[in-house]
Amino acid sequence: MAARFIKKIAYVPTTGIRSYSSGTKKVTLIPGDGIGPEISAAVQKIFSAANVPIEWETVDVTPVRHPDGKFGIPQAAVDSVNRNKVGLKGPLMTPVGKGHRSLNLALRKEFNLYANVRPCRSLEGYKTLYDDVDVITIRENTEGEYSGIEHEIVDGVVQSIKLITEEASNRVAEYAFKYATDNHRHKVTVVHKANIMRMSDGLFLRCCREVAAKFPQIKFEEKYLDTVCLNMVQDPRQYDVLVMPNLYGDIMSDMCAGLVGGLGLTPSGNMGLNGALFESVHGTAPDIAGKDLANPTALLLSAVMMLRHMELNEHANKIQNACFQTIKEAKYLTGDLGGKGKCSEYTNEICEKIAKS
Ligand SMILES: NC(=O)c1ccc[n+]([C@@H]2O[C@H](COP(=O)([O-])OP(=O)(O)OC[C@H]3O[C@@H](n4cnc5c(N)ncnc54)[C@H](O)[C@@H]3O)[C@@H](O)[C@H]2O)c1
Repeated sequence: MAARFIKKIAYVPTTGIRSYSSGTKKVTLIPGDGIGPEISAAVQKIFSAANVPIEWETVDVTPVRHPDGKFGIPQAAVDSVNRNKVGLKGPLMTPVGKGHRSLNLALRKEFNLYANVRPCRSLEGYKTLYDDVDVITIRENTEGEYSGIEHEIVDGVVQSIKLITEEASNRVAEYAFKYATDNHRHKVTVVHKANIMRMSDGLFLRCCREVAAKFPQIKFEEKYLDTVCLNMVQDPRQYDVLVMPNLYGDIMSDMCAGLVGGLGLTPSGNMGLNGALFESVHGTAPDIAGKDLANPTALLLSAVMMLRHMELNEHANKIQNACFQTIKEAKYLTGDLGGKGKCSEYTNEICEKIAKS
């Protein structure tokens, strides 16, 4: 098995794309379903107010039937992301148990988005049970329990394969240590269950150890998943950057989001071999779609992450400050944050703050 995956993919720098250094940049926008179009429009309005030098290329990813009869992402959307190398994505609805596979999974596969990065920081002015959370979760995004290899052995017995490869484990470990270095973080913790899944998590752990040896300036520690969950709710300050296989990352990143105020506030970035896709991590919120009640913060902060990735730091700071200030003043908070504000009122307030800055 190891021989098949012996080829290592070189680390792709992700803290900036040099070809984006000047002029107006094109960015693919996937508004998504449910509240997606409303929160995307809010982000576009705020970007206009901040004069961000970006031209949006809006694409639809509603699955189409390809010549081989299978459903997939429309070619125009694939071409757009491949051309622009950077995109912003709203939530997509996944039909349960029928039709096409999760579009989110399809996008990750199509663009080889191998690392999902979620910063979870306490927001000044938005009180939760915890005050000093500042944790980055880095999740392997392409395999593990999400490899989609499942089959029925006999009636009533099904099997699901957790696939771990050296190639993908090295890739995400390298990303985590490079991220920690670039962002002046001091420690990377690998989260695993190698005591139980000795071969699969064992391989992931070994890869992390080997990569850690190349970054002696970053402290490295190994922790069991259950221990990290316990520690995280007791005192999240003890963690800095966490790196882990797919399913653990899915759960842990939502748990960390819960510590700082929920999914409506949490941004994320999916780093790929040929580009990056930034997205809000919440769903389509069908219960409030079209009612001007959605909180656009998660998508906005994902867009701020995207600006930093494109080295548009001044614009990123301006928008982030206006957003945090609006949350701190608590005048136009949306319902999910305990307020009565509309999405449009909250958006307008951020635009006004940007105009005054
Ligand atoms: N990344 C994605 O594209 C993604 C992620 C999760 C779920 N989904 C899809 O979204 C659909 C609905 O899923 P769900 O109901 O389990 O989760 P959800 O996140 O859409 O909604 C859960 C609750 O949170 C609220 N909420 C979510 N985002 C909000 C926001 N920005 N502002 C205010 N309130 C917000 C909703 O109103 C709802 O009460 C499903 O089809 C699911 O597959 C997509």
